[in-house]
Amino acid sequence: MSSSLLPLTSSFTTCRSKPNTFKARTNQTHGFRVSCNVKPINDDNNETQKLILPNNNVDRRNLLVGLGGLCTAANLSNLSSALAEPIKAPDITSICRDANKGFDATHALRTAKCCPPSLGKTIKPFKFPRGEKVRMRWPAHKGTKEQVDKYKRAIDAMRKLPDEHPHSFKSQASIHCAYCNSGYTQVASGHPELDIQIHNSWLFFPFHRWYLYFYERILGCLIDDPTFALPYWSWDDPAGMQIPEIFLGDESNPLYDVYRDPNHQPPLLVDLAFDGKDKDPDIDQKECNLFAVYRDLVRNGGDAISFFGGEYAVGSDTPNSKSAGSMERHCHTAVHRWVGDSVNNRNGEDMGNFYSAGYDPVFYCHHANVDRMWKLWKDLGIPGHEEPTHEDWLNASYVFYDENQDLVRVSNKDSVDTRKLKFDYAKSDLSDLLWIKSRPPKRNINSQAATIPLGDVKSLDQVKFPVKLDKIIKFRVKRPAVNRTDADKAKSKETLLINGIKFNPNNFLKFDVFVNDKVNVGTDEFPTPCDPEYAGGFAQLPHGVGEHKMLMSSAARFGLDELLEDTNTEGDEYVVVALVPRTGTEDLTIGEIKIELVPVV
Ligand code: C2O
Repeated sequence: MSSSLLPLTSSFTTCRSKPNTFKARTNQTHGFRVSCNVKPINDDNNETQKLILPNNNVDRRNLLVGLGGLCTAANLSNLSSALAEPIKAPDITSICRDANKGFDATHALRTAKCCPPSLGKTIKPFKFPRGEKVRMRWPAHKGTKEQVDKYKRAIDAMRKLPDEHPHSFKSQASIHCAYCNSGYTQVASGHPELDIQIHNSWLFFPFHRWYLYFYERILGCLIDDPTFALPYWSWDDPAGMQIPEIFLGDESNPLYDVYRDPNHQPPLLVDLAFDGKDKDPDIDQKECNLFAVYRDLVRNGGDAISFFGGEYAVGSDTPNSKSAGSMERHCHTAVHRWVGDSVNNRNGEDMGNFYSAGYDPVFYCHHANVDRMWKLWKDLGIPGHEEPTHEDWLNASYVFYDENQDLVRVSNKDSVDTRKLKFDYAKSDLSDLLWIKSRPPKRNINSQAATIPLGDVKSLDQVKFPVKLDKIIKFRVKRPAVNRTDADKAKSKETLLINGIKFNPNNFLKFDVFVNDKVNVGTDEFPTPCDPEYAGGFAQLPHGVGEHKMLMSSAARFGLDELLEDTNTEGDEYVVVALVPRTGTEDLTIGEIKIELVPVV
């Protein structure tokens, strides 16, 4: 046999997923087991020594404060952003603690013990797969019998592994909990007092891409199939908007999960702007969902930060004042909460709460579609649709167990090209995707006379920030320019920034943003997320934050150019912004609201 025929399956000769080859260390403890006695196993790649000596790590910002003498707060924050370094996960098997926030622990249905098992391994650097076929991910509502059978067999095999195995169903589910609910801190960069949080910032897309990358390879390994590919829940396609049938049934189906909302079963369609309450059944949910996807990818995702989320680097607390990306805070969160069971379960398990979401197989299918949205966003080729290029994004890194039970460190920069990672999504011609053609319709100019009761609208100087969002608030926000030409719009995007959103991270919450709308303060009449005036929403699942913090903070950005065209208000000097609380915003405050021209780069 010629050697060129050999390599396809060779990577599987070292696959060590099977129960009989598994041996967990029994002396493992968790909770900052910081030990200086760990001997490097392999000097080339050993990171342990660096990780366990936080005191030797000089905080460069403190050093500069010392050298530079007195710094004002503003100078200090400039220094810290200029000198930040990328978020770096520690050795996840030795420096980890139980999930401690973001859900009501006394009523938790799933465990808060989310630390991965330790096999005493050394962290290896990532290597791209070689000589493999591309794994073609498939739409869950259109899987072939063979695809579905394989998927069920693989999940079944995963469920049969002992919990302590790094590939077990529980271990895989716990990855999400540990990275989200305060399992890890920035100890590897000298900040053991600050958490690592992979939501609400520019880590969101790449972290989840890596999570699925290893999950998919592990499943393939469990059934000895190097071409195994995950399904994606294409909630952006009208034919795929209900929970895919392969996940239904009862416990005899390995893809079934008992903790799902009993009222959100097929044939009901998912509500991609879900705010915790079911919408009027007369709403055209299909159309509304298509608008939602269009909004997240096109209107509100005009640049790297708007789509990915705000910058987040070492020294910043759980993405303090960073912004949540357009897809993350809207369609992505809506699907989670809509699937999770908030009727019977206090915490919205499984999908409705980050600590438990990984226990529902549909989580990975949902995230495969979220990941596909990243790819499509790029493929649209719209100027500005480029991944972040900042070093702090490129070099941010996480640690996972791979399909060989090796610990691997992966970074954002290696996540960008799916071809190099040997997976892809079933080809759909961009022009076949209905949401691309689903720009919400223009408001009829005749129906907009006397729409805005200006007496209720506050100018920004009448408001003392931070302002509480316990009722609908309307602001008049000055625009940097009016009647912008197409050439102006090609150079910069007019963007509404809502900054300093502070909230209690133990609740599910959502508020909606409308622009130049017909919201009447003091009445129940306001438009819905299906209307042209809907700018978008800000939704959060319960999150983990460090023990020392009560509130979490974030921000959100909304693209205005199309919205002003479609509401016939491009000539207005001010934009009227209505913030409409929907769920869980009792403690939420807004720190700042403004409009900026964000350059297209
Ligand atoms: Cu890590 Cu869908 O969330």
